Amino acid sequence: MSNGKVALVTGAAGGIGQGVVLRLLKDGFTVAAMDINEKALAELSQRGQSYKSTLSIWPCDQTNEKMTRDAVAKIEAKLGPVEALVNTIGWVGTSRFADEDSDYWRKVIAINLEAVLYSTHAVLKGMVERKRGKMVHFASDAGRVGTSGEVVYSATKGGIIAFAKSLAREHARHNINVNCVSPGPTDTPLLQQEIKDDPELIRRMVRLIPFRRVATPEDQAAVVSFLVSPDSDYLTGQTISCSGGLVMV
Ligand SMILES: NC(=O)c1ccc[n+]([C@@H]2O[C@H](COP(=O)([O-])OP(=O)(O)OC[C@H]3O[C@@H](n4cnc5c(N)ncnc54)[C@H](O)[C@@H]3O)[C@@H](O)[C@H]2O)c1
Repeated sequence: MSNGKVALVTGAAGGIGQGVVLRLLKDGFTVAAMDINEKALAELSQRGQSYKSTLSIWPCDQTNEKMTRDAVAKIEAKLGPVEALVNTIGWVGTSRFADEDSDYWRKVIAINLEAVLYSTHAVLKGMVERKRGKMVHFASDAGRVGTSGEVVYSATKGGIIAFAKSLAREHARHNINVNCVSPGPTDTPLLQQEIKDDPELIRRMVRLIPFRRVATPEDQAAVVSFLVSPDSDYLTGQTISCSGGLVMV
């Protein structure tokens, strides 16, 4: 049954994004799914058919501020105000900082940090006027404990955590909750890309995870489901590590 609320999910065609979209449909949200990958969005649209709630897809390069703002304006005109924003957009390669160039850094910063600022800013004003809203940003435990091979990515994810905390402080008076999910290794195309040159890596990771498995997109989506629900109304500025106990901070 519909809960009458609109959720915008960014990076929605990715592994975690798809898990979040399907979970929020199940929870009764009308879901707007935004991503740059049109083919994967179309596949997601098929997967979303079996739910009673409505799913619409919004192809967009979210590193482009104007495209993102225009898309959010169209979504709100068509579906109604965005009550929940879930930023799952992200991207990273694996390399040593010493070997990288500044074009690579700029791409990492544009996708993992700047794109999140654009979508957040685009929905914020309406949330402030309505005096309610839920925001969930995907960080990474790399942003809290660091990861070699992902130095600049870790910096952007640490930035996302600090961004969410500060935004949470600015907008608690408007009843807007801003929290982060900080996934541990999760079985998605991003993880497959990271381990492609070192398949043994996954076995080494799993040995360190108390629950002895990597996460599924559904594990991450369950945390989102809570963070966009009224059950989390008193929670803001928090970063929840969904990592099977790998990171406990
Ligand atoms: N998978 C993991 O192990 C893991 C671990 C820690 C954190 N995370 C974080 O969780 C989030 C989701 O990760 P995932 O594993 O699902 O990744 P993914 O690569 O499967 O999905 C990321 C999505 O972002 C989209 N995207 C990239 N650039 C874009 C752009 N310019 N405009 C619009 N969309 C764009 C991609 O098309 C893709 O669909 C990311 O923020 C990631 O950093 C993932």
